[in-house]
Amino acid sequence: MNNNNSNKNFLDDRKDYKVGKLIMSELDKDPIQQFKYWLDEAVATENIIEPTAMNLATYSQHEGLSSRMVLLKGLDDRGFVFFTNYDSRKAQDLSEYNQAALCFWWGALERQVRVEGEVVKVSAQESDDYFKSRPRGSQIGAIASEQSKPMNSYQALRDEIANVEEKYKDLVVIPRPGFWGGYRLIPSAIEFWQGRPNRLHDRLKYNKGADGDWVIERLSP
Ligand SMILES: Cc1cc2nc3c(=O)[nH]c(=O)nc-3n(C[C@H](O)[C@H](O)[C@H](O)COP(=O)(O)O)c2cc1C
Repeated sequence: MNNNNSNKNFLDDRKDYKVGKLIMSELDKDPIQQFKYWLDEAVATENIIEPTAMNLATYSQHEGLSSRMVLLKGLDDRGFVFFTNYDSRKAQDLSEYNQAALCFWWGALERQVRVEGEVVKVSAQESDDYFKSRPRGSQIGAIASEQSKPMNSYQALRDEIANVEEKYKDLVVIPRPGFWGGYRLIPSAIEFWQGRPNRLHDRLKYNKGADGDWVIERLSP
């Protein structure tokens, strides 16, 4: 790609963060509620595309570490929900090691949120409900694509999509395939990060204690 910035040394770029600050007494006692406030602000802020996009980091002994973006599709007191292919790399990682980490970055607000915890599959009903709500094209794509597996050509995927379309052409409601569904990350720690001048950022972390109560601590930037 050729553009005017091609000679720019971006490694020397320095941006001072000054949009906001984080005061412990102003945070909600419940980190999920606090997260909802921040997510609402991110959704309402211009220049944040895909505010529900989050990095998901997983691990398995045999494949090692990996991370990728997924979309947050559900959030309540139980945790953070995303949907994917149950045969994908991430799903295989999670079947081996059910701990994962999420990371959100809302640049225009100079905010990051990190979430850690155990991951469980959502109920079949929850996956069915979400699958049903997706556009037909996305449903067909989810069925046709063997996510994370090598494929011979893009044409092979188009052919498979045509096969799936043909198979379901007389059905108004396409059933969810068993290899596709949701996961819920049940948080044990959530950290809210607000950029501050001179890299002296605010970091407030909620840790879930053995009694189930959340304890907030301030971390060094
Ligand atoms: C902004 C964004 C959102 C995405 N959302 C999802 C998602 O919700 N579910 C999903 O399976 N893949 C999603 N993807 C694709 C994944 O990043 C990834 O390519 C795919 O899930 C395969 O990952 P894996 O091979 O590690 O399992 C998204 C990608 C981007 C860039």
